[in-house]
Amino acid sequence: MALERTLSIIKPDAVAKNVIGEIYTRFEKAGLKIVAARYKQLSRAEAEGFYAVHRERPFFKALVDFMISGPVMIQALEGEDAIAKNRQLMGATDPKKADAGTIRADFADSIDANAVHGSDAAETAAVEIAYFFAATEVVSR
Ligand code: PPS
Repeated sequence: MALERTLSIIKPDAVAKNVIGEIYTRFEKAGLKIVAARYKQLSRAEAEGFYAVHRERPFFKALVDFMISGPVMIQALEGEDAIAKNRQLMGATDPKKADAGTIRADFADSIDANAVHGSDAAETAAVEIAYFFAATEVVSR
């Protein structure tokens, strides 16, 4: 196992449910450290840029509209096997298919309002972290 970093976003639906702290507790209990964080309202251009890889998908506009519907909490997580660990904590994209006890099973309402984002691979994690944080803003401890 390697020490990794991954990008996590607590999406507008979960922020509106006031469960940022509950989700952070799950990260911490799993041994993931928050090494950068920012609470913000994404602009349309920022959300479109972040999800550019999906721009031809039928759900692209709905995804961007949702991601700018309210503030998000963005964090870089660090730990052993952080990318896979975070995706296990998140559960499947569609909350109806997510394992019991996962973040999406507990806090998400639908596939288009699914509470959290997590990087899916080391290459995307590096790109996604750099999309939101300057190198000096990500601080290991
Ligand atoms: S893929 O093919 O694995 O990349 O697709 P997937 O990871 O399932 O989805 C990519 C992101 O799009 C979101 N998504 C949707 N949004 C709105 N409506 C529908 N139907 C839908 N299906 C997928 C999904 O939550 C992913 O967003 P992130 O933020 O990466 O979780």
